[in-house]
Amino acid sequence: MNVLILGSGGREHALAWKISQSPECDQLFVAPGNAGTLQVATNIPELGKSFDSQGKHQIGEFITKHDIQLLVVGPEAPLVAGITDYLKEHEAFKELAIVGPDMRGATLEGSKDFAKEFMLKNKIPTAASRTFTIDNIEEGLKFIQSKSLPIVLKADGLAAGKGVIISQTYEDAQANLKDMLLNDKFGSASNKVVIEDYLKGIELSVFVLTDGKDYLILPEAKDYKRIGENDTGPNTGGMGAVSPVPFADENFLKKVEERIVKPTIKGLQAAHIDYRGFLFIGLMNVNGDPFVIEYNVRMGDPETQVVVPRIENDILPILFATANQRLASERLKISKEIASTVVMVAEGYPDAYQKGKEITGITDVSEALVFHAGTRDENEKVLTNGGRVLAVTGTGKNIQEALDKSYSSVQKIVWDGYYYRKDIGQDLLTL
Ligand code: AMP
Ligand code: GLY
Repeated sequence: MNVLILGSGGREHALAWKISQSPECDQLFVAPGNAGTLQVATNIPELGKSFDSQGKHQIGEFITKHDIQLLVVGPEAPLVAGITDYLKEHEAFKELAIVGPDMRGATLEGSKDFAKEFMLKNKIPTAASRTFTIDNIEEGLKFIQSKSLPIVLKADGLAAGKGVIISQTYEDAQANLKDMLLNDKFGSASNKVVIEDYLKGIELSVFVLTDGKDYLILPEAKDYKRIGENDTGPNTGGMGAVSPVPFADENFLKKVEERIVKPTIKGLQAAHIDYRGFLFIGLMNVNGDPFVIEYNVRMGDPETQVVVPRIENDILPILFATANQRLASERLKISKEIASTVVMVAEGYPDAYQKGKEITGITDVSEALVFHAGTRDENEKVLTNGGRVLAVTGTGKNIQEALDKSYSSVQKIVWDGYYYRKDIGQDLLTL
């Protein structure tokens, strides 16, 4: 089978690494890819950067030319832009298996207001909320004052992970609401703002693979979103991850399945959304009960870099079955080992940072997997090419062993101006 993966991050490197091990995989392409995917696949650097009608057309042409049978869409942008719809609408791609929902499915991530309505309708536990626009901003300002603090404001649309503001005072929340609705703080993404209750608890992510009828629950993971140690400073795409999560015991995960996963799949069916792909459920564990913080219509990054290495069976037939609605007969075999990943970022990230620095030491790493995120190759050298540069994944019998492998490997890797958090997984050691 020939496979095309869209994306260029650590998530896509982890997926490519796993798919490339399948005996059923003939040719594997990653578009655009990075210096890591290049080790296990053929990169198509000029493809998968734009998803306007020309971008979609080029992807279609590539699929035809290289006889691609399976397309795996990594990030949300192509899904929200309708890559799946485009391919489904064309007779030429009738046989193509696609892992990634269509635009309506992608709205679960693309619009927080839509996701909230969906959860309300399907009685899925989530923070109580209301949505406001410029037309009822006065009501929104009053609504803020009727809530207890802190208050959570969310831009409705995609805002590169920055669209959530947690305000500790009414004044701050009101100023932010005005900024979002009147001054386009997050561009058109904040034309609508969801205001919701603050949930106090511990966060974790659960991943589901569904063909629209049946589902498989993948290993859960904990992500470390803030740039600074002890969860301080601005939010990032994710600075590290651990899987499994000790507090997500069987009882808790059963609640997640019954109260969230099953009603979500049923709700998608009831809305006639033909959802085939990954579903990432961001959860808060509030005193042992799960509440949904957000849906994403893709895998997490860097969570994929700890989830995928724990999957013991061949992932390719499972992805193919997802796209062809034959998931009922598939099973996952999950390793009991713990996986941790530490993300090495460019100094300055998530604000301005430099690119093009030569990375050395990756080939000295022998006891961890080094997944590339923001890298590119040039004359056999690996250069930094993004904020999040590498994710270094260790596995072991317990969290400490996994972390030791991640961190001892991180110490072998160098470039001019790198940073990583030294406390990934520490909170889980004391649970
Ligand atoms: P999101 O972009 O939806 O993932 O939100 C970013 C982060 O904001 C989440 O990872 C949570 O840490 C936090 N967050 C979002 N919604 C809530 C909420 N209702 N209560 C507490 N924290 C939240
Ligand atoms: N690590 C969080 C995300 O992928 O959205």
